[in-house]
Amino acid sequence: MLLIKGAEIVNPAGSYSGKGDILIKEGKIAAIGPELHLEGVPVLAAGGLLAFPGLIDVHVHLREPGQEAKETIASGTRAAARGGFTAVATMPNTSPPVDRAILVEGLRAKAEREGVVRVYPVACITKEQAGEEITEMADLAAAGAVAFSDDGRPVPSAAVMRRALEYAKMVGRPVLSHCEEPTLARGGVMHEGYWSTRLGLKGIPAAAEEIMVAREIMLARETGCPVHLCHLSTAGSVELLRWAKARGIPVTAEVTPHHLTLTAAAVAGYDTSTKVNPPLRGEEDLTALKQALAEGIIDIIATDHAPHTREEKEQEYDLAPFGLVGLETALALCWQELVGKGILTPAQLVEKMAVNPARLLGIEGGRLVEGAAADLVLFDPRRVETVTAESLVSKGKNTPFLGWTLTGWPVTTIVGGKLVMQERKLLV
Ligand code: DOR
Ligand code: ZN
Ligand code: ZN
Repeated sequence: MLLIKGAEIVNPAGSYSGKGDILIKEGKIAAIGPELHLEGVPVLAAGGLLAFPGLIDVHVHLREPGQEAKETIASGTRAAARGGFTAVATMPNTSPPVDRAILVEGLRAKAEREGVVRVYPVACITKEQAGEEITEMADLAAAGAVAFSDDGRPVPSAAVMRRALEYAKMVGRPVLSHCEEPTLARGGVMHEGYWSTRLGLKGIPAAAEEIMVAREIMLARETGCPVHLCHLSTAGSVELLRWAKARGIPVTAEVTPHHLTLTAAAVAGYDTSTKVNPPLRGEEDLTALKQALAEGIIDIIATDHAPHTREEKEQEYDLAPFGLVGLETALALCWQELVGKGILTPAQLVEKMAVNPARLLGIEGGRLVEGAAADLVLFDPRRVETVTAESLVSKGKNTPFLGWTLTGWPVTTIVGGKLVMQERKLLV
């Protein structure tokens, strides 16, 4: 038993918000309310802290099986706990890709043993992510896949994508689309615009994303299958999404903390941790993405946590792999840059990082309510910390936010009633 006392509870989908107490018993929330009086129960004093439902990241690369030099279930879920996440969905672009039921089962078993937060596998849309043959979606769903994605690459063929959506709809799982038109994006390493010209790097135009966003919207309309658009990065994508939602087409979308806070100008020092797909875009894109979040056009903030080894990232910009790590900095960045600057309220931030992610994946969580699993995070809005490579527990140190001093950090993470981080220290 544990009694969390005196927190400011931010719980937009739950039973109680406001200053109050939370009683945890046998891994579950036993009571939540303005003031709970209990004798002999250990108390966690949370005055001055905010309590959120545990954050859920729908887009994480844990790199198992096969790429354990980049990240493991153990290291990646510890990074998640440090960031205030109590659940993550892990992408299937591994070695081998997660395209068979036995691989989903293997991942779940390993996560059960080694994960410190909940791990929900995402399975491939196509076999080997080759874009041709659709996977056995019913088997994959039965084995525990919560969604389908070929993330890391698009499904180039519209015909294949349409059939995949028909099957996914039948098995009741959403499709998460990495929107990239391959012939336009090929060879590009950053956003096509002023900075790519100035730096002499090959660009990826905004249209490479928008063409595929438009295609997925049309296919969602035709099939009625829910499509979730990963890591939107351009103002044009936002316009298309706005159009689709106004027509009741079943699409949702996510944006990453890095696409909300950095532009292509960050590439100027050739730091390969700024090399990410989709690329960092322009000022107008950032403005549109923030506006869309505030309006509820964009539903979710997801990290696209993409760890790589130091050797892989320490290459010429053209050769380094795409991706940056985000689990440990997401909440602090979003608090400072979105809540701090009046773009989102704390309750809206919790909707984007916990409530809507749970809804998309059809999983428990995202709300603090009696009887629910005790997955929650305590957040100190006044804590100041500088991001350093040494402070990161992820194997990947590839983040452009090294050296940033941020105000507002998760301090305590609780998964199923178990303290996994307390006062910033991992206990697992
Ligand atoms: O930057 C990225 N990294 N974008 C992707 O689509 C894939 C990811 C990865 O797996 O490294
Ligand atoms: Zn992607
Ligand atoms: Zn990804």
